[in-house]
Amino acid sequence: MTIKKAIIPAAGLGTRFLPVTKSMPKEMLPIIDKPVIHYVVEEAINSGIDDIIFITGRSKRSIEDYFDDSPELEMHLMSKGKTEMLKMVRDISSLVDIHYIRQKEPRGLGDAILTAEKHISGEPFAVLLGDDIIVNSTPCTKQLIEVFIKYGRSTIAVEEVPLEKVINYGIIKGRKLDEHLYVLEDIVEKPSPEKAPSNYGAIGRYVFTPEIFDCIKKSEYGVGGEIQLTDGIKLLSESQKIYAYKFTGKRYDTGDKLEYIKAIVDFALENEEMREEILAYLRENIVKC
Ligand code: G1P
Repeated sequence: MTIKKAIIPAAGLGTRFLPVTKSMPKEMLPIIDKPVIHYVVEEAINSGIDDIIFITGRSKRSIEDYFDDSPELEMHLMSKGKTEMLKMVRDISSLVDIHYIRQKEPRGLGDAILTAEKHISGEPFAVLLGDDIIVNSTPCTKQLIEVFIKYGRSTIAVEEVPLEKVINYGIIKGRKLDEHLYVLEDIVEKPSPEKAPSNYGAIGRYVFTPEIFDCIKKSEYGVGGEIQLTDGIKLLSESQKIYAYKFTGKRYDTGDKLEYIKAIVDFALENEEMREEILAYLRENIVKC
């Protein structure tokens, strides 16, 4: 059995990026000319997903507009004969089936995922957090789906993080099976470095069996007074094996200002039209430093 549905939670307030996120969703921050969320949707599609459920909240309307048809703009581009741009704009709205659910109050990631339970209708599904862009020829979500197809169990993507940053992640304890694969033995949401069971952090990519919903429902309010996905995962691991997968690829947490800038620079360097000029600019300024 493969995975066709994905939940993309995008209801967070984006406080790390204030003041711009006062009136603009953090998921719409551009990496050159495409918003972060576009890359996340592309990763889902390239992993075989054909049905996406966005969990949004107030002031996230521009995400819906971005993936919708845009008749006035299309007419304008058509009348000017800008066919390439027209195709680009049309392609975005025909990428995939997208549905939207509004989380009325931001009560945590676990709660956001729970709002999509009916739409998922008892199937296994993927979760992609809207902040992370992961670059690799085999998309990270596809890597997780491959593990799921082999073992039929929930799988979460992990990465080694510096000890001083474990406080930002769900941190796992795992029993190593091979170079990439671990059986999850424990997971703790945002521990202090002293209490962290390892330095392997859950990044924003998961594949779940549908039993996760009941486990989230049974979870109490956790860290930060929120319903945490991590607590649901821990509960699920008591009745079903869960795998942690050390994925291959480069991750940018675009919710972090420094990583956001690094993503833009790296993407510009990968862009044939910009590469030389950006390189020249960087060289010139490194010399000045
Ligand atoms: C969430 C999860 C955390 C996970 C992280 C990955 O935290 O609660 O377990 O490690 O995403 O980015 P947040 O970044 O929303 O605080």
